Amino acid sequence: MADQAGAETDVWYRWLLHERQAGDAAAGAAVRADALRYADRVLDAADLHAGMTLLDVGTGEGLVALRAIERVGAGLRVVLTDVSAPLLRHAEARAVERGVVGQCRFLHCAATDLSQLPDASVDVVALRSVLAYVAEKSVALAEFRRVLKPGGCLTMAEPVFRDDALYVCALRRYAERQGEDEGRFMRLMHRWKAAQFPDTEALVAQNPLTNYTERDLVNLAQQAGFAGIQLALHIDVLPMQMSSWESFLGSSPHPLAPSLAQVLAEQFNEGERAFFVPALRAVLESPDATMTERIAYLRAHKPAG
Ligand SMILES: C[S@@+](CC[C@H](N)C(=O)[O-])C[C@H]1O[C@@H](n2cnc3c(N)ncnc32)[C@H](O)[C@@H]1O
Repeated sequence: MADQAGAETDVWYRWLLHERQAGDAAAGAAVRADALRYADRVLDAADLHAGMTLLDVGTGEGLVALRAIERVGAGLRVVLTDVSAPLLRHAEARAVERGVVGQCRFLHCAATDLSQLPDASVDVVALRSVLAYVAEKSVALAEFRRVLKPGGCLTMAEPVFRDDALYVCALRRYAERQGEDEGRFMRLMHRWKAAQFPDTEALVAQNPLTNYTERDLVNLAQQAGFAGIQLALHIDVLPMQMSSWESFLGSSPHPLAPSLAQVLAEQFNEGERAFFVPALRAVLESPDATMTERIAYLRAHKPAG
């Protein structure tokens, strides 16, 4: 699918379609396979069947909604919303390609303002990796509850980035304690990671991406009036996955973070790059290198009465 007008300046579109996989086909296939597993787990929590309407908030490429149609078939209706107009057009083009666009409605709106949808109009609200980017999470949850029919299901998967940010805070403290020479690698590590995550406790507490834990998600759902709340936190410590060094350089951990290549180009001088890149590469390509993913899966329902 060709890129469309406005898409190249849209941070969400650029990340989902290009930067997430840094133009590497093998990395792209792995990312898409992972995303489908997350979508399936989100959908497993909803007892979806023909005749229902599912709302996919922050749909991106249409991941959850199009997967739901694949699973349920022609009897399912889906509403796809996003703040990114280019992503919505892309999701629509994918629905046309699959011959399912007649089952879909596309709404350009934020998770905190679903006013285009009437009260009690959908059976399931589903989202994957969206609330993390919403500053007013309680407003979004109140909207999810409003549009759900009584007894309707909320199901979501959200990354929990707080520990990533606390690691960057620890890096900062460690680098500050070292002398000029012995701390050089850690100082540059800190510079790289601080471009992607907040690096002081005060900033961690202010940033919508890092200022919540899985327990806060439970509390938010409870305060919004949901019942039957269940949350499972999945922490996977995996061998470092890097299909190539070039793809790693071009990738970033979330849509609002610059890639390592960008940080090296904009925040490192030539001498720092010459020192840091081979040292970092040796660490990341060692057989012991790991990466950690933290994902919270939450399901709940709107009380029936
Ligand atoms: C990490 S992407 C996930 C996309 C999709 N749900 C998926 O799992 O592939 C985050 C998505 O949230 C959307 N988004 C960001 N802020 C939003 C907001 N305030 N309200 C609704 N959607 C938002 C972005 O446009 C993007 O599509």
